[in-house]
Amino acid sequence: MTDTIQVRVWRGDAAGGAFREYAVPRLASQTVLDVVTHIQRRVDPTLSYRYACRVGMCGSCAMTVNGRARWTCRTHVAGVAQDGRLEIAPLSNLPVVKDLVTDMTQFFDKWAAARGRFEGGGTRRDDFARVTPASPMRQLADAGIECIGCGVCYASCDVVAWNPDYLGPAAMNRAWTLVNDVRDTAQRERLAAVAGDAGCHACHTHMSCTERCPKKISPTAAIAGLKRAAALAALKGEI
Ligand code: SF4
Ligand code: SF4
Ligand code: FES
Repeated sequence: MTDTIQVRVWRGDAAGGAFREYAVPRLASQTVLDVVTHIQRRVDPTLSYRYACRVGMCGSCAMTVNGRARWTCRTHVAGVAQDGRLEIAPLSNLPVVKDLVTDMTQFFDKWAAARGRFEGGGTRRDDFARVTPASPMRQLADAGIECIGCGVCYASCDVVAWNPDYLGPAAMNRAWTLVNDVRDTAQRERLAAVAGDAGCHACHTHMSCTERCPKKISPTAAIAGLKRAAALAALKGEI
């Protein structure tokens, strides 16, 4: 193991920028987030980046590391450095605010466009809904419910790069989770929202989202489920 690691970090803003090089001391069990933090605290306090939990719970530390979107807090330098070098850039497919910070507005606007919020019909006077854990719909909902909205899948999707209106894997994974929530009352509206030109039928099943999701979620499978459900609803004349 060498004493230092050469790190290229993208510096700039929405108007443009370039990579800048830093030498960072190499430490045992060092994460990519540790490297970025070292630069910001010890070398250049003007470097902007984002993180919160440092344990893979919040998703805010996602960046592009050696060409691939990852959670930097859960990525060890030893696992990704190539010839003792790292290249760290902001997530792709999102506007840059500054340096390594992206603007997530469009990402979450697409969750809203896909009707990614629970729309229940119960009141506070109703008893709790009972959903059997082993029921097929509950299991389908379980498969995608642990998404933390980190944007790794979105930044990895070529269709988002080609078509900025495309809702993307995370929003549709969320929609599919809710389609399988038997308590939700907005299923027709949700399927209509994801069945448009920028919705599930635009997915090319490249699988990058599924290969890269740090939570091992499969947005590809969720989107396939939406394609089937939307086609069925269209055949029945429901959407
Ligand atoms: S499977 Fe679909 S959503 Fe996922 S990366 Fe490929 S095109 Fe994008
Ligand atoms: S599906 Fe996975 S990669 Fe995509 S936002 Fe959710 S947790 Fe992140
Ligand atoms: S800082 Fe929260 S997931 Fe990395």
